[in-house]
Amino acid sequence: MQDSYLKEYFSFLRFPSVSTDDQYKGKLEECARWLMNKLTSIGLTTQLVPTKGHPIVWARNKHQPGRRTVLIYGHYDVQPPDPLELWDSPPFEPVLKDGYVFARGATDNKGQILSHILGIQEMIEQGGDLPVNLHLVIEGEEEIGSVHLGGFLEGNRDALKSDVAVISDTGMIARGTPTLSYGLRGVTALEIKITGPKMDLHSGVFGGAVANPITALAQLLATLHDREGRVAIAGFYDRVGPLEDWEREAWRKLPIDGDKLIRNESGVPELFGEAGYNSIERIWARPTAEINGIGGGYQGQGTKTVIASHVMAKLTFRLVPEQAGDEILKLAKAHLRKNLPKGVTMEITTGHSGPWYLTDPHSPLGEAAQRALRKAFNADVALIREGGSIPIVSQFRSILGIETLLMGLQLADARAHSPNENFPLENFEGGIRLNKAVLQELAH
Ligand code: BES
Ligand code: MN
Repeated sequence: MQDSYLKEYFSFLRFPSVSTDDQYKGKLEECARWLMNKLTSIGLTTQLVPTKGHPIVWARNKHQPGRRTVLIYGHYDVQPPDPLELWDSPPFEPVLKDGYVFARGATDNKGQILSHILGIQEMIEQGGDLPVNLHLVIEGEEEIGSVHLGGFLEGNRDALKSDVAVISDTGMIARGTPTLSYGLRGVTALEIKITGPKMDLHSGVFGGAVANPITALAQLLATLHDREGRVAIAGFYDRVGPLEDWEREAWRKLPIDGDKLIRNESGVPELFGEAGYNSIERIWARPTAEINGIGGGYQGQGTKTVIASHVMAKLTFRLVPEQAGDEILKLAKAHLRKNLPKGVTMEITTGHSGPWYLTDPHSPLGEAAQRALRKAFNADVALIREGGSIPIVSQFRSILGIETLLMGLQLADARAHSPNENFPLENFEGGIRLNKAVLQELAH
């Protein structure tokens, strides 16, 4: 690998492109411009497409009739780096240690998308052109639900006409095991705000005579699950398809011990989840309700004897075939209203959502992806589903009419969304080989 690759990777990682936080807006724009320059410099025609949120970077080669058109998608935004004190080195000052690069975005998604860009660069350098017509779409809002990308696809439906999408933003089941993901869970979000008194009250003077909003929220959130980890919202499982025997069999044969892996990576004292399923099945094929954040009341040093005026919680639901996000939100809201304790009021706001995705890994395009994976990593390909979500994938299907090949390079210990996110150079280089292999395989 050339020295310049690592330098460029580090430059890309130094932008704190945290999409959810307005304070970084300028940094996302700078990061998008850096990408533009990079893509222009390797010979692509590049455009910065402004949106009401963060800009989209759109690049293409010169298209020729009669060739396949491949859309490669990635994202330059990252998750917030906090809690900062748990990082061994600062999240936006990348370091290379024992073959792994550590930084926020190292895997998700800067390392993976840059490896594709470098693959494209090498093919153009070596052959003067690519074997396919290429669209490269790199957005800055994936981690906040791809709010404006759908509009971009709608608005440029004809110009973006492609045969297939390729994404490296999912898991690789084990080091050296090339992995094709044929399913993603969907996700949908809501936020609860519960209000009691009009201001924080003295808990001695008022306590016992008014409802405490934090208690109310705790009671309410406790109604979301039963003790066995099943979601207790009426109707939640109505549309959930059963996990088929063939799929269970196939997953049991994968070269990993899912339960052990989850136990080790998470550091939990024991595993917990819906009865009747192992960890892999729970994550890939079952829906969840998660409380992602909760806040309210006094959080400073020592004690403060108050009854807080209000409290909030952020929730997301992971969805599986055939659940519908808007329907789940409706059921969840009805459940929350019905179970709200007395003496407080509640506001619910709904957030971003993205549908689940399921495709056929044995379609002709899926087989081409498998051949490319085998070629790039010289090993048998694992076929898996994912617990994570990539909101735009279902819109590639519904708006552009194309399927997506999910060829991920994210290892189980990548620490995506966590402190000390990392990416092995082995996968960075593998990604470059994979890009070249997949464009070649898709060319014919
Ligand atoms: N790259 C992930 C999705 C992913 C990771 C899929 C690993 C499969 C395996 C992506 O960047 C991500 O985190 N997406 C968010 C989407 C959400 C914020 C709408 C997610 O899944 O939480
Ligand atoms: Mn990602």
